[in-house]
Amino acid sequence: MSDFVTAFAPASVANLGVGFDMLGVAVAGVGDRVAARRTDNDEVTVAEVRGLDGEIHPYLSTNARENTASIAAQALWDAHGGAGSVELKVFKGVALQSGMGSSAASAVAAVVAVNALLDSPLAVEKLLPFALEGEKYASGGIHADNVAPSLFGGLILSPVVLLPKIMRLPAPKGVSVALLHPDLQVNTAQARLQLPKSVPMKLWLEQQGLLAAFIHACATDDIDLIRQSLRDVVVEPHRKGNVVCFDEVVAAALKAGALGSTLSGSGPSIFALCKDNDARNVASAMEQACRGVGISCQSWVSSMNAPGASIES
Ligand code: HSE
Repeated sequence: MSDFVTAFAPASVANLGVGFDMLGVAVAGVGDRVAARRTDNDEVTVAEVRGLDGEIHPYLSTNARENTASIAAQALWDAHGGAGSVELKVFKGVALQSGMGSSAASAVAAVVAVNALLDSPLAVEKLLPFALEGEKYASGGIHADNVAPSLFGGLILSPVVLLPKIMRLPAPKGVSVALLHPDLQVNTAQARLQLPKSVPMKLWLEQQGLLAAFIHACATDDIDLIRQSLRDVVVEPHRKGNVVCFDEVVAAALKAGALGSTLSGSGPSIFALCKDNDARNVASAMEQACRGVGISCQSWVSSMNAPGASIES
């Protein structure tokens, strides 16, 4: 049993266009870290939260009841911790309100770190409900489409109706993710309130067909079918207006050869799925288009099989 551990959890692309609230993929090369150590306190505490620049985070609270990492950690400790509690230090690598699963990455890194401090650590599959407690606080709803890929890695289907059951989908061979983060913010809880309460049957049928075809395409490495099916006809129309560079970035991605492109989570980030060899060019074209409308940005290219959360030390 250790007294001090650090865990890393990757960013993620939720919804993946076709699967609102139920489909997501982990993104390599960007994520949050949480360090945890045992204390004699009664409750989980947060010693500090540091931002991307390494400085004390200007917005995120060290109030343990207002931080997704500590809320998730407290849920796990309440269920399986022993005497005392834990203290967390949160190192944000994912920008807040970026549509890259920032709150989920903190919650996942926290439960993975705290799990390693338990007398009898749980199997990773058992950690999902605890990480979801943190995510629920941030987004105002239960959905595992960021938390599950961040925890398990790769491409994960997590329909809310079946939680905590999740399904790992085969990542299509030869396909990568290009992810662009424009320097804008979208609050997920507010973006969820923008959505209509009901959807016309015609649209529902269309989206169900696209989701089913996309899943089949991933399982059969059918790149043409990914190109045909990667569309969001239900949610994107209500949200793309929040992201001023949306049309330009998506058009640039498609022109550079992307199979499809839409919002990552609730935005403002925009992802594209691409053939592996096209992914760098697609990411550059997206960046250029974004800067062309006067918004600074950053991009990543990731396999669709990126690893999930892990203990670093
Ligand atoms: N499925 C969620 C949403 C993901 O789109 O609201 C948020 O990152």
